[in-house]
Amino acid sequence: MSAIVLIGSQWGDEGKGKITDFLAEKADCVVRYQGGSNAGHTVEVLDQQFKLHLIPSGILYPNTRCIVGNGVVVDMGELINELERLQSQGIDTKNLRISSRAPLVLPYHKKIDNLEDRATNIGTTKRGIGPTYADKINRTGFRISDLLDSRAYFEPRLEAQVKQKNRIIEEIYGEAGFDYRELLTELQEQVERLRPYIADTSLLIYQALKEGQKVLFEGAQGTLLDIDHGTYPFVTSSHPIAGGACVGAGVGPTCIDRVIGVAKAYTTRVGEGPFPTELHDADGDMLQRRGMEFGTTTGRKRRCGWLDAVILRYAVRLNGLTDLAITKLDVLDEFALVKICTGYKYKGTLINEFPESIEVLEGCEPVYMELPGWQQDITGATEYEQLPPNARRYLDVIYDLTGVKQTLIAVGPKRSQTIVQEQIF
Ligand code: GDP
Ligand code: IMO
Ligand code: MG
Repeated sequence: MSAIVLIGSQWGDEGKGKITDFLAEKADCVVRYQGGSNAGHTVEVLDQQFKLHLIPSGILYPNTRCIVGNGVVVDMGELINELERLQSQGIDTKNLRISSRAPLVLPYHKKIDNLEDRATNIGTTKRGIGPTYADKINRTGFRISDLLDSRAYFEPRLEAQVKQKNRIIEEIYGEAGFDYRELLTELQEQVERLRPYIADTSLLIYQALKEGQKVLFEGAQGTLLDIDHGTYPFVTSSHPIAGGACVGAGVGPTCIDRVIGVAKAYTTRVGEGPFPTELHDADGDMLQRRGMEFGTTTGRKRRCGWLDAVILRYAVRLNGLTDLAITKLDVLDEFALVKICTGYKYKGTLINEFPESIEVLEGCEPVYMELPGWQQDITGATEYEQLPPNARRYLDVIYDLTGVKQTLIAVGPKRSQTIVQEQIF
């Protein structure tokens, strides 16, 4: 058996799409287990760029099976658009499978996400993610399978939900609600389009593992956006951490062999919430510009700061990381001096562990280690030995601070710009 979970170690956008695509060449199966179209995973191959939201980043390989697991909240309209976009880019999507248990993101979820975010100021992606997961937990949501089962069960429940959601939208927010009949027709059309892809995906993954196939679980978002372990309430509504893979794909924890944490060589965050190493100066601007740090899903400018080793150690603990994939090391190429946060100072006391309280986190000041930059273009490096000594030193310090080996190092967005320290599959 060979099952690997790949997760984001920071606040998302670490380059999970690029690393997943890289590993997918040898994987038999790539599985998304949480999140929804809030994710934006970019893959660049030769001159083509692909932006994936719901579909796993293994889709570019025609023989790799791609699975949208039961833990992913599915906006069928978005999924159909994404399929059509990929097909127009020449990608074969016949190997995609979607869990019949996946919760449906409905138009009223997106509307309520928009309306509520004005009050909560979390800065969500407005893709209906929080309201859909809330309905799932509240047992008032719908699954893809509901649309395939007998109409007698589904239709009255949907009608009642539309009524209830319309009350929130119309009476609290004074905006226009939704027409149940129109919604029902739209959903029925969408599910017919998706019918060939719908399956019992937990069973498919189980069978693949039993046959000794290589399965890669692709996390969306990142550790600090986890609903339980992230910077609550400035988080997403699912479990991006490695433990989420078992629940969100329907597999047991004993099948997981390895957990890879994808970590950007610096830190970014999109949306609101505390960010101890955030920079509001020329260095921050340089990271933003060189890293082209704009959200893949929303186009928002990402906040940028130095690498935070307190966060990485937290990610090691929460995910049981066995490997790190360091990405965007090339973005640091022009800096004369680079910094790594090794701990926080809170009210004069040194803290080494990520604080539980958001108030404490907001009051933390980063303690930095300064290192000389390499001021050299590393985007052509294909082997570790080709990296300049100061870049290697930077990586060594990260190793010393995390204790986790760096199996992959990315020096550019393209598939080919990846240094492999150890074969994974
Ligand atoms: P994801 O959500 O974790 O998949 O990350 P995103 O795709 O949202 O953001 C990462 C961005 O960085 C994308 O535009 C990638 O093409 C790009 N990228 C990934 N790895 C590297 C790298 O090593 N160097 C550079 N310069 N860009 C990278
Ligand atoms: P990928 O998979 C970065 C952030 C949003 C917001 C918070 C809650 O591309 O790394 P949500 O719409 O999920 O309710 O928003 O989470 N967020 C992400 N930030 N990368 C992502 O995905 C994100 N998905 C959600 O900006 O702060
Ligand atoms: Mg992203």
